[in-house]
Amino acid sequence: MGQNRPKATDLLAWYDVHARHLPWRARGGRKPDPYAVWLSEIMLQQTTVATVGPYFQKFLNKWPTVKALAAADIDEVMHAWAGLGYYSRARNLHACAQRVAEDLEGIFPDTEEGLAELPGIGPYTAAAVAAIAFDRPATVVDGNVERVVARLFRIEEMMPPAKKIIREKAATLTPEKRPGDFAQAMMDLGATLCTPRNPSCPRCPWETVCQGRRAGNPESLPRRAPKKERPVRYGTAFWAVRSDGAVLLRKRPPKGLLGGMMEVPSTDWLEDKPVTDVLDAAPVKARWKKRSGRVEHTFTHFHLILELMEARNIGAVKADGVWVMPDKLGEHALPTVMKKIVALAMDDNEKPGPLFKARRG
Ligand code: ADE
Repeated sequence: MGQNRPKATDLLAWYDVHARHLPWRARGGRKPDPYAVWLSEIMLQQTTVATVGPYFQKFLNKWPTVKALAAADIDEVMHAWAGLGYYSRARNLHACAQRVAEDLEGIFPDTEEGLAELPGIGPYTAAAVAAIAFDRPATVVDGNVERVVARLFRIEEMMPPAKKIIREKAATLTPEKRPGDFAQAMMDLGATLCTPRNPSCPRCPWETVCQGRRAGNPESLPRRAPKKERPVRYGTAFWAVRSDGAVLLRKRPPKGLLGGMMEVPSTDWLEDKPVTDVLDAAPVKARWKKRSGRVEHTFTHFHLILELMEARNIGAVKADGVWVMPDKLGEHALPTVMKKIVALAMDDNEKPGPLFKARRG
């Protein structure tokens, strides 16, 4: 029966009234800028719409075109990205901009296949950019869309194996007309009505065709095994202050966690509290003293607890890193966990800069 099938046109009619106003969305019938769409999609991987907003505006103001971004210094890009997390995205962003600027005359490919060949663009992002920027009938399946589709078709298989079935079902929904709006409408439906816990079914344009709703258990879908607890790792950071007030930072290796970002030097971060003398890992020989307080930060795969050691009045010693005056710390690409360390270290010692708020844990 036709009535039992979710129709794209019903969702699109809902979207025409209820679409979220997001900074990267072209409005009033204007054509989207592929550069802006791509930039937003890279930022939105693993990051919320609310967090991305100001970063997106900052990047577009600083680098209004893909050629401008390609010409930027990588350290400046990392600095502008600081706080968004998943820093390999920033490296790939820059590499992708350079590829598009240098090999493709600044023009993004307009197909999923062409986009997927670029650095940092996986199948999801290729589909999203093809649909949103070029109105290609690509099927865009992120976490929100998975939830919508699992409920709509009452897919009871466990995640993640259910992903394959969800993707196949999602593909049957993608329309030939307005596929870009449809992709964004699916995201909006998942973000605003078909939410994880209390879905607002009575306001949903697909309420009468949703099999999860009909079965009375939409909030239980998609099915997931209970989350494992995050392990805790421990470490000690070293706040080294030279006699002129400069503090020691160093650059992390390009690959791996927080790759290419600046850091306050620290021990390794290990699951057992280190038994060996932490001072073996100190970046310079000095009279190190333990500071009170600690820093906590949650990464995707672990929770981190850092203690802080401090040494002051350090003379002209050789150290691996750069000495930075406190008022210049804001010029460096410090990820959020490092800003927390700086805030703790400068709390009641130095004047806390407006950039870093102290939080005692
Ligand atoms: N999540 C990923 N891409 C998005 C987009 N274009 N709009 C809203 N949320 C998103």
